[in-house]
Amino acid sequence: MSAVRIDGNALAQGLRGRVASAVAALRAGGAPQPGLATVLVGDDAASDVYVQAKGRNAADAGMAAFDHRLPAATTESDLLALVARLNADPAVSGILVQLPLPRHINTTRVLAAVDPDKDVDGFHPVNVGRLGALAAGAPLDFPVACTPLGVSLMLAEARPALGGLDALVIGRSTLVGRPMVQLLLRADCTVTIAHSRTRDLPALCRRADIVVAAIGKPRFVRGDWIKPGATVIDVGINRTDVPGGKSRLVGDVAYDEAAAVAGAITPVPGGVGPMTRACLMLNTLQAARRAAGVAVEPV
Ligand code: GUN
Repeated sequence: MSAVRIDGNALAQGLRGRVASAVAALRAGGAPQPGLATVLVGDDAASDVYVQAKGRNAADAGMAAFDHRLPAATTESDLLALVARLNADPAVSGILVQLPLPRHINTTRVLAAVDPDKDVDGFHPVNVGRLGALAAGAPLDFPVACTPLGVSLMLAEARPALGGLDALVIGRSTLVGRPMVQLLLRADCTVTIAHSRTRDLPALCRRADIVVAAIGKPRFVRGDWIKPGATVIDVGINRTDVPGGKSRLVGDVAYDEAAAVAGAITPVPGGVGPMTRACLMLNTLQAARRAAGVAVEPV
């Protein structure tokens, strides 16, 4: 195995530490404590684990954590009323409505109801539009979706000179694939976006210096698709059964095969996931800085 393993846990720990220091500095300057409000509708076990982890991360960074739990039968108007209250609450710097929402609730309407300045998920159409209009190298002075933001920060560490490189994003989702394309363009990559109708994906992949796999299919990207020395970022989190009645998490990339060819690769778990959560803390800090009228610098 030749590839460098990009350690998402270590990078996330470093980022969370820098966010915590920045939170302390913000408060020492007289600004109010940043606060993250999470909203979970229903009792999905996986979402519950994610939301709890986000609250813990916020508290560890010195932020207030407001945990709102609503029953699965909550109406859309009741959820919108809660979002309106959080929008108006000065103690709340950032709002995260955990997805997926129950089917009777219109997700698009709920995400659009969040104040764009508190939209720490970067899912509001105003923030999606800002990202789409971003010039190469322009500052990210608005919230950007946490997963692609985390991937960008990981790439900046793993491959500092991205300009001119061929990047392939596999997956065109609004939450990951599309914002990822915008961030890679901002970094001056030549970007291709592939999806389920793409012809000859292996051939496209073999040309790519950077591969970001976000398709949700276990071990879909094979080792012989990878250009020698390429940087491979695996966004997939797929639970698969293993012998003995157990299950384990695997990514969208066949890790062992790809690691034998790639220059650097993220593992699953311990790759993109921890950086996504750390970026939520970063987005909350930046929202609090903006609300306090404090200069928003990279951390
Ligand atoms: N559910 C799974 N991932 C996410 C995320 O990044 N944000 C929100 N709001 N819900 C999610």
